[in-house]
Amino acid sequence: MDATSSTPQDRVLSGMRPTGALHLGHYHGALKNWVRLQSQMSCYYFVADWHALTTHYESREVIAHNVYEMVIDWLAAGLDPNQCTLFLQSRIPEHAELFTLLSMGTPLGWLERVPTYKDQQEKLKDKDLSTYGFLGYPLLQAADILIYKAKWVPVGEDQASHVELTREAARRFNHLYGRETDFDARVQASLDKLGKDAAKRLEKSRKAYQETGDTKAMDGALGFLSDTPLLDPDERDRLAGWFKGTGKTVLVEPQALLTEASKLPGLDGQKMSKSYGNAIAMREDRSSIETKVRRMPTDPARIKRTDAGEPERCPVWQFHKVYSDASTQAWAAQGCRHAGIGCLECKQPVIDGILKEQVPMLERAEPYLSRPQVVRDIVDAGTDRARATARSTMAEVRTAMGINY
Ligand code: TRP
Ligand code: SF4
Repeated sequence: MDATSSTPQDRVLSGMRPTGALHLGHYHGALKNWVRLQSQMSCYYFVADWHALTTHYESREVIAHNVYEMVIDWLAAGLDPNQCTLFLQSRIPEHAELFTLLSMGTPLGWLERVPTYKDQQEKLKDKDLSTYGFLGYPLLQAADILIYKAKWVPVGEDQASHVELTREAARRFNHLYGRETDFDARVQASLDKLGKDAAKRLEKSRKAYQETGDTKAMDGALGFLSDTPLLDPDERDRLAGWFKGTGKTVLVEPQALLTEASKLPGLDGQKMSKSYGNAIAMREDRSSIETKVRRMPTDPARIKRTDAGEPERCPVWQFHKVYSDASTQAWAAQGCRHAGIGCLECKQPVIDGILKEQVPMLERAEPYLSRPQVVRDIVDAGTDRARATARSTMAEVRTAMGINY
C-alpha cells in the first residue's frame, strides 16, 4: 500500500530535530516528500525539540537558535501553513504524558534492541548518551505518533524500527486497556440497538470466527458493522473489537512511509551532513555555493585535463543525476570518459542547477526573515490545532486506563 491509495482524512505525521540549518540532503531526502504529501492528506509536521535535547542536552542554545530557523527552511521548501499543520513539540506537554503512560508497560528490551540506540552511541562518541532520555526516545517518538492517531509516518529507513516499536506499543496498549471497565455492557447496548436478528447473526459469526478461524464470517460481520447506520463510529469500533476478541482500538497502529534515501550525497560523496563539513544549506550564499562545488573532489584518476575519467567514481556525477537533464548528463559523461571537458566545466551546470533550485526557496523565505513574528504566529496556530487533537486522544487514553477517578 502507498500513501496515494488512501483517503484525504488519513493523517500523516513526521518530525525533525532542530539541531542545525537544513541542507540539500534534507530537502531531497525528506522535505520534498513532505511538500508533496501536504496536498494529498492531512499532514502534521513538528519541530522535535525534546528529541533534539536527547543528544544536545548540554547545548540548548543550538536548539533555541534552530527552532524557528528550521520552520523557515520548511516554508522555503514549500510547506504551506494553509495546507498542513506545523507545530512545536514542547508546547504540547500531552506528548510527555502519553510517553509516561506508555513507559509503564514497555519492556526495557524493546528499547535496548532498537538499532539506532547502539549505533548512535557509537557514532556520537563525544557525547555521553548513556542516559535515560536517549534510551527512551523511540518511545517518546511513539507517543508523538500515537497521540495524533497518525496512519502514515514518512521517515527514512533509519527510523523504520522506531515506527515498528510504535506499532508494538499501540498493540500492547490496546490489548491491556482496550476493554473499558463497562466494555461488556456497552457491547450489549450496541447489540440491542442492532436488533435481535442482527445480534443473533453476529453472535453466530463471532463464534465461527473465534472457534474455527472462519475469516469469511469475520469479513461479513465487519462489512455489516462498517455499513450499519445504527451505530456511531465509536460503537462500531468497539463491536469490531468484541468480534475479534481484541477489545477496542484506542491507539492506531501507524505505518512507515519510507522515503528513499536522499539521492543527493555530500560534496565528498559521503552522506550529506553538517557535521562532516560536506553540506550545502538550503539557503546559502551564491558565492559560497560556487566555491564549494568548484572545490568538490572528482575522479582521482583525472589528474591532468587530458586524463580520461569515470563519472561513477565522481561525486559531481551524483549531483548531475539530481540537477541536470538527460542531454547535459550525456554531455558530462561523454566529456569525462573522453577527456573532452575539464572538471570545472563539468561542474558549471551543477552550480547553475543548485542556484536555480534556490531561487524559489529564497523567495519563499524572504518575507519571513524580516518578520519573525509571522513565523511564530504560524507555529502558534498549528500548535493550537495539534493540541486539540492531542487532548482528545489523551481523554480517551485516560478513560481507557481508568485514570479518571
Ligand atoms: N526521531 C526522528 C529523527 O531523529 C524525529 C522524530 C521525532 C520523528 N518524533 C517523530 C519522526 C515522529 C517521525 C515521527 O529524525
Ligand atoms: Fe567528475 Fe565531471 Fe570531472 Fe568527470 S569530468 S571527473 S564527472 S567533474
